[in-house]
Amino acid sequence: MKIVLIGFWLSFLSLIVCGEPKGSLVQRAPAKFVQLANPYQGNEAAVLAGSKLFSRECAACHGKDAHGIGKAPPLVTPDVRHAPPGALFWVLRNGSLHRGMPSFAHLPEPQRWQIVSYLENIR
Ligand code: HEC
Repeated sequence: MKIVLIGFWLSFLSLIVCGEPKGSLVQRAPAKFVQLANPYQGNEAAVLAGSKLFSRECAACHGKDAHGIGKAPPLVTPDVRHAPPGALFWVLRNGSLHRGMPSFAHLPEPQRWQIVSYLENIR
């Protein structure tokens, strides 16, 4: 009985340690962020500013046209384009540290929203 219990706990623990959450990163954003509105919605200057920030901060991993390189996924996907702005904002704030996506919480908030504006407008 004890052995069965220990086995049960071990498999439970390994699930916690190794279990990967399902869905792409943007789909895992908490509701609190998903509902945030982009203050630059529809602002073309913000898209342009975001594209410059993208070249500086993101292109090394995601490619200069956001088509992805190596481990960094492409960002020209329906998942990203149709993601709620707040979900993208959350990805930039938190990153996905154990999978190689850094946090950009050090960038001022307006700059992060500009990057979100750019992400929603890349083709
Ligand atoms: C050091 C490399 C690196 C840099 C720099 C980087 N990323 Fe990422 N990014 C990744 C990796 C790796 C993933 C995949 C993480 C995962 O699946 O958990 C990712 C995932 C993402 C996702 C989620 C994509 C999806 O389909 O869910 C978005 C959005 C994203 N990055 C945007 C950006 C933006 C915008 C920047 C610049 C501000 C940036 N990244 C900079 C490596 C990077």
